[in-house]
Amino acid sequence: MLQSPYAVLRRALLYVPSSSQRMLIKSTSLAVDNVTYDLEDSVTPHQKSEARSALVNHLSKLSRPSTIGELAVRINAVSTAHALEDLTALAAQPSLDAIVVPKVNSASDLNFVTDVIRHVAPERFSLPASTAPPAQRQPIELIALIESARAVMDLRSICTASPYLKGLIFAAEDFAWDLSLTRTPSLTEFIYARSAIATAARAFGIPSTIDLVCTTYKGEEGTRRLEEECRNGKSMGFNGKQCIHPSQVEIVQRMFAPSADEVEWSVRVLIANEKATTAGKGAWTLDGKMIDAPVVGKARAVVAKAEKCGMDVDQMKAKFADQNPE
Ligand code: COA
Ligand code: MG
Repeated sequence: MLQSPYAVLRRALLYVPSSSQRMLIKSTSLAVDNVTYDLEDSVTPHQKSEARSALVNHLSKLSRPSTIGELAVRINAVSTAHALEDLTALAAQPSLDAIVVPKVNSASDLNFVTDVIRHVAPERFSLPASTAPPAQRQPIELIALIESARAVMDLRSICTASPYLKGLIFAAEDFAWDLSLTRTPSLTEFIYARSAIATAARAFGIPSTIDLVCTTYKGEEGTRRLEEECRNGKSMGFNGKQCIHPSQVEIVQRMFAPSADEVEWSVRVLIANEKATTAGKGAWTLDGKMIDAPVVGKARAVVAKAEKCGMDVDQMKAKFADQNPE
């Protein structure tokens, strides 16, 4: 059985340019599921080496703050001269939980990253749980950025390239560049690519699917656009979204958590289902809708995710304890 996407809590992934000392410092005071320190496109070519050193210095003094779910670094693309140096300098950092690999075009990009980590920091893939410090009890995870036509066509081989691949990200700006298309607020030009990514992730058991950046981030228009994009991405099967500014994080976390209505419905389904099962009914009715095994399965997943998101599910269970099938 594949892990349900609802089990994952990597909703907001915030990029922090490693070239900015101010933002490196700021990042440690934020409450966010994932902080991804960027060495790629937010860092100019002549700053690469300085930014890498600044990040190594920052991470070597840092243990993961409890308000941050996961620490990651976005290395430079495997096709550049920088990727090997990035991995060599950073893979062994014990506070890092994941490596974000940009411009993954084929399986060989992930094979390269996996092989380099096995070489420069083999312990990140194989530490015995009992002896490892907490941050290293899980193997370091890989998250692949899908941002070209070639990558979308090769999703099957990319998804099966490395046992450590745990997330796919869609990046709109590079994809639009590759296809010579212009991003519109409706995002219809990306439907095929985004749907292919969400579907491939499910097919190959990759739990995390992270949607495009909302580049309009300021003021009321920024909030309205972001909420609209979150609704759209969630409806396509994404379970998280990239952020570029701290002000986007809380909105993304809220929008990618189950809504209160969704949780209430799911709790009612689960409580009534116990009674229906006792009465020997596999299919039954609630609020005029037919309920059967897949609906119950989805309800279970929603409740599990709500619990992970810190929502008060117990209070809702108590409120609807008397719920019966119709
Ligand atoms: N990570 C950490 N802190 C950030 C941040 C980020 N991505 N973006 C802004 N901040 C901080 C600022 O340093 C500032 O903190 P301070 O007042 O305590 O010093 C505060 O949040 C408010 O920032 P603001 O003045 O509104 O934004 P800005 O003009 O400094 O920066 C951007 C705007 C877009 C340049 C900046 O948000 C950014 O660089 N984002 C990431 C871009 C990126 O990584 N792109 C590549 C991936 S798509
Ligand atoms: Mg990109």
